[in-house]
Amino acid sequence: MENQRTLYNDLDSILYTREQLQEAVSALGARITRDYAGKKPVLVCILKGASVFFCDLIRQIDLPLELEFMAVSSYGASTKSSGEVKLVKDLDRSILGRDVIIVEDIVDSGMTLNFLKKSLISRGAASLRIAALMDKPARRVAPLTVDYSCFEIPDAFVVGYGLDYNELYRNLPDVGILSPRIYAGEE
Ligand code: IMP
Ligand code: MG
Repeated sequence: MENQRTLYNDLDSILYTREQLQEAVSALGARITRDYAGKKPVLVCILKGASVFFCDLIRQIDLPLELEFMAVSSYGASTKSSGEVKLVKDLDRSILGRDVIIVEDIVDSGMTLNFLKKSLISRGAASLRIAALMDKPARRVAPLTVDYSCFEIPDAFVVGYGLDYNELYRNLPDVGILSPRIYAGEE
């Protein structure tokens, strides 16, 4: 059985199966298709965590759209944000006057998205919304509205479907709660 694969041994439990993920992502794609009817949005994927979600989401949106990629870093090999957000890869094209949707894997403290939101607004986007696969509202430090989110989750460290711990587990097709023994001993 597929769940016998080694990566699954590091999980305490599966939070969302691939079927639940697909269902939520298609519903979100349909919602964005309705909300942006007549528009040509720019979807900005925040690398690397959002990459799997992004690839599925864009294929559920029936509109002309453009893709951009950005990368920021704040975590390093830790389950806690360092609080410092660095821009590692910037947009390739101007977003002046464009309707922008930032696509992120998960909103935790909110610091990453706060930083990105300010940065993209300052470049003259006509509108800016945030689409996140998961939201952990209990952990919010910086005030932030997530316009579209598929799942609100409890305060646990999750991996899979693009999300990593120390760069691993991104290729798990499901989202699972990482067993705390994997990051025990971390400062
Ligand atoms: P924030 O700036 O604290 O909101 O952190 C957001 C970033 O932290 C996300 O883009 C993820 O890369 C990472 N992150 C937060 N929570 C988790 C988690 O449970 N699993 C994996 N990555 C996480
Ligand atoms: Mg990450």
